Amino acid sequence: MLHDNNMLQDNHAINAAGHLTVAGVDTVALAEEYGTPLYVMDEARLRRNMRRYADTMSKYFPEGSMPLMASKALSFREIYRIADDEGIGADVVSAGELYTALSAGFPASKLYFHGSAKTLAEIRMGVEAGIACFVVDNFEELHRISRVAGEHGVTQNVLLRITPGIDPHTYEAVNTGRVDSKFGVAIETGQAFEITQEALETPNVRLIGFHCHIGSQIFEAAPFLDAVDIMTQYMADIRDRLGYAAEVLNLGGGIAVPYVFRDPEVDLDACIRDICEHLTERCKALSLPMPKVLMEPGRSIVADAGITLYTVQNIKVIPGYKKYVAVDGGMTDNPRYALYGAEHTALVANKAAEPQDEIVTIAGRCCESDALIGENMALQKAEVDDTIAVLVTGAYNYSMASNYNRVPRSAVVMLKDGKARVAVRRETLEDVIAYDL
Ligand code: LLP
Repeated sequence: MLHDNNMLQDNHAINAAGHLTVAGVDTVALAEEYGTPLYVMDEARLRRNMRRYADTMSKYFPEGSMPLMASKALSFREIYRIADDEGIGADVVSAGELYTALSAGFPASKLYFHGSAKTLAEIRMGVEAGIACFVVDNFEELHRISRVAGEHGVTQNVLLRITPGIDPHTYEAVNTGRVDSKFGVAIETGQAFEITQEALETPNVRLIGFHCHIGSQIFEAAPFLDAVDIMTQYMADIRDRLGYAAEVLNLGGGIAVPYVFRDPEVDLDACIRDICEHLTERCKALSLPMPKVLMEPGRSIVADAGITLYTVQNIKVIPGYKKYVAVDGGMTDNPRYALYGAEHTALVANKAAEPQDEIVTIAGRCCESDALIGENMALQKAEVDDTIAVLVTGAYNYSMASNYNRVPRSAVVMLKDGKARVAVRRETLEDVIAYDL
């Protein structure tokens, strides 16, 4: 019997041994073969999520419109090979992400370079690689790109990151669309207009349009529709005041995924469709030529394609307080609880058919009290050596992993057609000291 808070997805099942399976593969066997902590990604689910964006966007928008996978959510070479195969682009925010994508053979012509503090070296790298576009965050960066493009004798495409002044209800760390934000330039202050005017007059750059990103883990469609309203109005104003028609509108990422049973369900297809339909209507109403549209989904593409497996090391019951289930990972492979108090769902993978009738704290191994996977989590009765599966960890887990406490980073395996393959190998102790002189 499953506890009613179960968050199992249609690519998850429980086999005859009572083990959790992902894409038909026994997770307990995966833990045995590859060790733990282990990130496990279901390739079919990943591709399905990519296609959801690609199909809907290509239905509504002109050619050249596409989703750009936000690398920050998950970046390693195999992900770019899959994204390229699915015909989608990617955004990168650092030399490291850019290098990873290029080294996987991902076409520079589908790479968009983001970030609020790009270094000169990164700008050079992007220009030299021939990336599609920089998403310009500020005046200084605009001038730097102009200089570097001039030195290389090229004209560099740029989008301007505009802050629409929207406050979606999400947690502080990912709330980025407000005027008082370190990202972009705001319409409200008049600075968006100034940077647009300046971009049009700056040599060696070609302004192709505008970008906005209002935040992450946003459950309602309304803030996205508001962003569409504000951005299309801005595009119409710019057309009227400067005679400039944007060719591209990038709406950023941010669609939420449920992590725990209390979270609302998200109909991703419907959400993308609503945004697309609304944008189409707005362009019509404002007599704007339909721009090429870009979106930058991270979490909604990769999160529910991933789980993490751990092994229980010990169990500590503090009478009158709580029960701690200590695992062999924690904030080094999933810092989301430590950083945001983010909640996740877990189960004992080798007892997946049993009821989740205990409430426990799953403790990580790092030397901080808050280095937990979560508190008050419903779990089957866990014992030492059990395999714990934490669900929906495809986004912002591996990509935010660290070597705190000199813990080697975990491996990533990809599942396809009932088979597992290592996409990122586990770090060794030799790797941990590799840079020490
Ligand atoms: N585009 C831009 C400019 C962004 O800043 C972000 C996320 C995205 C796209 C992708 O957003 P998504 O579709 O994944 O919501 N570490 C946090 C999330 C940080 C999000 C930062 N920006 C977490 O674990 O919840």
